[in-house]
Amino acid sequence: MTPSNDLRRPVSRSLCTMSELVLPNDTNGLGNLMGGRLLHWMDVCAAISSQRHSGVVCVTASVDSVEFHEPIHQSEIIVLESHVNRAFRTSMEVEINVYAENPRDSIKRHCNRAFYTFVAVGEDGKPVPVPELVPETGNERERYEAAARRREFRLLLSGRMKPSDAIHVQDYLASFSA
Ligand SMILES: CC(C)(COP(=O)(O)OP(=O)(O)OC[C@H]1O[C@@H](n2cnc3c(N)ncnc32)[C@H](O)[C@@H]1OP(=O)(O)O)[C@@H](O)C(=O)NCCC(=O)NCCS
Repeated sequence: MTPSNDLRRPVSRSLCTMSELVLPNDTNGLGNLMGGRLLHWMDVCAAISSQRHSGVVCVTASVDSVEFHEPIHQSEIIVLESHVNRAFRTSMEVEINVYAENPRDSIKRHCNRAFYTFVAVGEDGKPVPVPELVPETGNERERYEAAARRREFRLLLSGRMKPSDAIHVQDYLASFSA
């Protein structure tokens, strides 16, 4: 399959919502959801977003820090929501938010947020270009701008970018001394 790089795609095309029920086999000795199981569901949800945007198979290149703010209990419903924040050349930043829903009162609480980087690959497993993402709302434009900065931070930390090339980070830091 070849990517449609001539197209510009809205954020809405990449939206993915998944629900999962926390069963006994998903929990630790305290009856709470195990972190590794949640990371697996987050990876699947984010992969769907990246593939909806790019139209090709995508692989996880990196995951930014994930924090587990509070336990999620057996029998709760997990709702995962993801979308692409920005498409670069062959990579995309996908934001994913996780909510836990108590089945008795249907109240949803926000439990996790993470940023995944996916890379679109061809049949040979090599990176291929992805369509441009076009932010349409104020929120989408803010996330689009922040994604460029986060990309530079993660490439700096992984040693894949020189500090002198990190122009969005430099602008960001300069804004504090202006
Ligand atoms: C991800 C992968 C395809 C990148 O291949 P590569 O030869 O390093 O390719 P490149 O150097 O051309 O980088 C391709 C893109 O990945 C991005 N990338 C690579 N490593 C990255 C990292 N650690 N964090 C963020 N982005 C990264 C690059 O910035 C580049 O993005 P761009 O084209 O939008 O600028 C390759 O490393 C791979 O196949 N990894 C295994 C993926 C996998 O199996 N994931 C499941 C985990 S078990």
